[in-house]
Amino acid sequence: MKKDVRNVWHDIVTVILLALFLQVPIFYGLVKLSIVSCNVMPGFIYKFSPGSVRNSDSVDDATPDAHSESFQIKRDTAGSQLNEDSADAATVTSNLTRKLQKQYSLRPHGHAHYPFVQFSAYRDSPRVFFIVGVTSVVAREFDLPVYKCEWYPKSEPPQPSKVTDAKMIYVYFDQMPRIYVVATVNCTFEEDAVLGEEGGSLFMTVSVGPHPGDTKRVLVLQEHNGESKKAMRNQDQQPPLKYAFCGPPMYGNIKAEWVLHWLVYHHYLWRDSVHFFLYNVGGITDSVRKVISPFINKGLLTIYDVEDQKEYPSWYYNQLLFSNDCLHRTRYLSSWTFFHDFDEFFTMSSSITLDKLLDQYKDVPYLSFGSVRASLWMCADVHAGSSEWPLQRMRWAEKQPYCCVPNQDPWVCIYGGGARKYVVNPRKVFAVGVHSTALPEDGGVNLNASIVRLNHYPGMLSNKTSSCSFTVNVSMPTELLHQYAPSSQSYVRDDSISIQMGKAREFDAELLAAS
Ligand SMILES: *[C@@H]1O[C@H](CO)[C@@H](O)[C@H](O)[C@H]1NC(C)=O
Ligand SMILES: *[C@@H]1O[C@H](CO)[C@@H](O)[C@H](O)[C@H]1NC(C)=O
Ligand SMILES: *[C@@H]1O[C@H](CO)[C@@H](O)[C@H](O)[C@H]1NC(C)=O
Ligand SMILES: *[C@@H]1O[C@H](CO)[C@@H](O)[C@H](O)[C@H]1NC(C)=O
Ligand SMILES: *[C@@H]1O[C@H](CO)[C@@H](O)[C@H](O)[C@H]1NC(C)=O
Repeated sequence: MKKDVRNVWHDIVTVILLALFLQVPIFYGLVKLSIVSCNVMPGFIYKFSPGSVRNSDSVDDATPDAHSESFQIKRDTAGSQLNEDSADAATVTSNLTRKLQKQYSLRPHGHAHYPFVQFSAYRDSPRVFFIVGVTSVVAREFDLPVYKCEWYPKSEPPQPSKVTDAKMIYVYFDQMPRIYVVATVNCTFEEDAVLGEEGGSLFMTVSVGPHPGDTKRVLVLQEHNGESKKAMRNQDQQPPLKYAFCGPPMYGNIKAEWVLHWLVYHHYLWRDSVHFFLYNVGGITDSVRKVISPFINKGLLTIYDVEDQKEYPSWYYNQLLFSNDCLHRTRYLSSWTFFHDFDEFFTMSSSITLDKLLDQYKDVPYLSFGSVRASLWMCADVHAGSSEWPLQRMRWAEKQPYCCVPNQDPWVCIYGGGARKYVVNPRKVFAVGVHSTALPEDGGVNLNASIVRLNHYPGMLSNKTSSCSFTVNVSMPTELLHQYAPSSQSYVRDDSISIQMGKAREFDAELLAAS
């Protein structure tokens, strides 16, 4: 028994030494074994004397389950050795055995760090695919989360597969990273990864463990008959929609009526040439679904329910995962894809129309907009018999766009400092952040907020945020208002949203009657 175990170890060590000496790459199984056993080698060598047995007691308590295999070997070896050497051997052995057979378990708290968690995958062209997911910040920093992509055509007779490197697109994140950050993978093959009508399967090799070589090949995308061809046909055509909207994840207690008002307003702005993509992480309750359903029935809106995202904590309920998914989803669907929040309302100077503005910039990857905060507390009072929505009564906004960067022109204060949001040409942008694009980062146009802006009603989506604690007769002269309520001096009258909202309500009267 003793001899057997020793011989096995002797052989393993000999092979490793030989391999090192001859500089032969050691095959994966052995490397792994040698790494694991490194941790327990001292115990293995010295445990023959009772003293070191006691030493190993303390190790015992701290040693996790992962090493139980090595303990098994230790126990057998120690046991047989002591049997011969000592009169006490039987007791020691049984004591030792009892100790070493104690069951230990790991008790995880919080969240695991997975090197790669896939959400979606898209074909971009005959040779290019993008896979969207999240990656552990730790894995991304110290390991390679993804290795290679393989395309297996489904064909008769079978054709050889194609292989290429999987390239991580390290998305710039302009918010605090959590455990996870968004990861988009670029699989670009040297030859077309498509043959005829048959379709095929895209596999990716991903890291699954802490050691080099701990990898697994996973299926990331499957194309059935004709699907590859269909995806490719879309690329040559004018996108079927002018606009797409990619919503931030919806969570918590949402005011259903606010969502409705936001949708009516933006539906009027973009008319029927838009599709709204909403990501539900628990905020779309029955009452929200009810007000949204007329938009779904009209084919204007899709909800993605993603219940398990909380297992992979990332900035703001995985906002960037969903934004990047939506970006790739709309690549050949819309000419322009907007990314802003439900407490932000897009508005522009009356001297230009949205279509004209965007046409003017059709060769740039993105346009960004400044943000102007509205007053939530000061509202127009309610006239008798009026049916104005709260938003229509919020008629005051800060004098200048938001900008938290000192000495910067607030009208063109860019990125997060200006709380900017943006619209992209989704054929020219491959990764996005919260306040700016990430690939490419530059090359777009940061519009002066006097031309285009988002009126921001911070937090109004949440049912915790109240508004209109102070009401004002809109006919009151400004001078008088300032005397009457000195804090009103930081605001200017801004009726644009209110007026547009009135028109939007007429435009959507039919949809509103149905909701
Ligand atoms: C075995 O364990 C018993 C009870 O814990 C203890 O009294 C005894 O001294 C131990 N024997 C040896 C040889 O360690
Ligand atoms: C994807 O990878 C290919 C090959 O390395 C490269 O030419 C291309 O620019 C990459 N695209 C993106 C969006 O990263
Ligand atoms: C932006 O527009 C404002 C208001 O019209 C103007 O005062 C300012 O000079 C403009 N800023 C730039 C950089 O064009
Ligand atoms: C918000 O909604 C939740 C769930 O419907 C409700 O329990 C809570 O009272 C609401 N809060 C306010 C301030 O309306
Ligand atoms: C608002 O002010 C105007 C002018 O000062 C006044 O004529 C009108 O009666 C006021 N309306 C209300 C509802 O107080």
